[in-house]
Amino acid sequence: MCGIVGIVGNAPVAPLIVDALKRLEYRGYDSAGVATIEAGALSRRRAEGKLVNLENRLKDKPLGGKIGIGHTRWATHGVPNEINAHPHFSRDVAIVHNGIIENFAELRAELIAAGFEFSSQTDTEVVAHLVTRGLDNGLTPVEAAHAAIRRLQGAFALAIMFRGDDNLLIGARNGPPLAVGHGDGEMYLGSDAIALAPFTDSITYLEDGDWVVVRRNEMQIFDAAGKPVERRRQKSIGTSFLVDKGNHRHFMEKEIHEQPEVISHTLAHYLDFTTSRVNDHPLPFSFAELDRLAISACGTAYLAGLIGKYWFERYARLPVDIDIASEFRYREMPLTKKSAALFVSQSGETADTLASLRYCRREGVPIAAIVNVRESTIARESDGVFPTLAGPEIGVASTKAFTCQLSVLAALAVRAAVERGHLSEADEQRLVRELSEAPRFASQVLKLDEQIAKVARELSQVSHVLYLGRDTSYPLAMEGALKLKEISYIHAEGYAAGELKHGPIALIDETMPVIVIAPHDRIFDKTVSNMQEVAARGGRIILITDAEGAARSTVDAVETIVLPEMPEIIMPIVYALPVQLLAYHTAVFMGTDVDQPRNLAKSVTVE
Ligand code: F6R
Repeated sequence: MCGIVGIVGNAPVAPLIVDALKRLEYRGYDSAGVATIEAGALSRRRAEGKLVNLENRLKDKPLGGKIGIGHTRWATHGVPNEINAHPHFSRDVAIVHNGIIENFAELRAELIAAGFEFSSQTDTEVVAHLVTRGLDNGLTPVEAAHAAIRRLQGAFALAIMFRGDDNLLIGARNGPPLAVGHGDGEMYLGSDAIALAPFTDSITYLEDGDWVVVRRNEMQIFDAAGKPVERRRQKSIGTSFLVDKGNHRHFMEKEIHEQPEVISHTLAHYLDFTTSRVNDHPLPFSFAELDRLAISACGTAYLAGLIGKYWFERYARLPVDIDIASEFRYREMPLTKKSAALFVSQSGETADTLASLRYCRREGVPIAAIVNVRESTIARESDGVFPTLAGPEIGVASTKAFTCQLSVLAALAVRAAVERGHLSEADEQRLVRELSEAPRFASQVLKLDEQIAKVARELSQVSHVLYLGRDTSYPLAMEGALKLKEISYIHAEGYAAGELKHGPIALIDETMPVIVIAPHDRIFDKTVSNMQEVAARGGRIILITDAEGAARSTVDAVETIVLPEMPEIIMPIVYALPVQLLAYHTAVFMGTDVDQPRNLAKSVTVE
């Protein structure tokens, strides 16, 4: 979603802002802009499309000025064109915004009645005019900004700048994240620490309802009521990572190949490989005392949670309710005293997941979260945090965060099984040893890259793909379809193999590739029967299995991707890799924008 940068500095800021916006590109956007105060006047450059277009504008017409704000926009209200791109101006006020102003129609009508003219279709422009109206009424810039913020309903992060004061930025947060960066005689605003990494690693995160007055040598945070508040200044861990592609063509490719290492780091955080036991990472509840666990997440993180459900129920006999967060937040699920809630999120900022968390907070149940961004809102609002140690994930399509989420879920399921008395010490040690093998198997699977690319070349010729799987391979089939859809734009569906004959089998003909994820597991033979049903109707099967599965399959697959034999508990973690590589290579053959697919955002901070 939109990215925000603000700098009140000592050198021309426009190039620095563009550099910071590049570090926010991964969030997804469709236009960008920057504004500065130059020779006492507000000036801006904006461009539709990628940042390179903005850079070209700036090359033709450079912007001076030592204070500025910049923005990457992911369109919500109004098409992604230059007019709707931020920053928006209202006389002496410049503003950038991430989020949705829900009462914008009412405010817009009010401002039009008061004589304001609108030049864009955005909800953001109402905020700029509201601030101007405050100034017209004799308020100071700080008072006018606060008065405007108080009128806003919805989700927003804002940065505001005023002609006439080149030592003042105002930031505000209600929902989407906003951080203040502390420099040496310079200060910054940014959507996250990654954006500010070249400038500073000293960060203060605003909390919901906070707004901040930033000047070169000082800043003051206020709460919604206007009372000064202190927020912790911290060293960002985000800055210690080098965010570049290395030798890879895309971040997604790099992140797929990082998986053996990051899975290993993540598992080592929860498992003691010396004793082959789960460790005692602090929990906000006791698994032994739970009668239900509610898991909620979005997209790929939801599918990780769905695989977690199989593990918690199978190994720990712990019933799991799992919901897509956008449904959970409104479905008023009753939670008993013996329930706990678990949220899964790479960014830790997803609006629906956060709203579900807050619902559970009101219901009074203990809250835990599996998150990749340690300083995120979901992490901060949870009673217990289970970090994934994936490092920054820049590709919009989640890959390494997914397998790290699975690693945490598997480790937690084993721990729950131990605490609930469903696992002997010997079985715990066996499972921990098996989990410790996941990175090694992941490395082996990456060596199949060439064969997978060959299959992907075929896939790039088709318009529809069906993915099938049973048991934990069923959520993985949905994940395979999601990956394919989002980066190659090929229509794909993921189905439980046994569900095929209840409808989707009607889609099968000679043009339909059907990718079947079928390791030789306890229900392999059932999946083979479903493959027979596909083959009988001319469907072209691509089978992802192991040597035993390949030998025992009685169906002619057009292609068989053979993975090593591996323990059952790590299958979903390791089988995720060929599924990701298939989508990746297909997208490369299609020539799509792999790291920033159209219409998508990395961190979905609106409903
Ligand atoms: C798909 C993808 C999305 C995210 C979803 C949740 O590849 O990345 O489906 O998984 O938007 O995001 P987080 O995990 O940040 O809450």
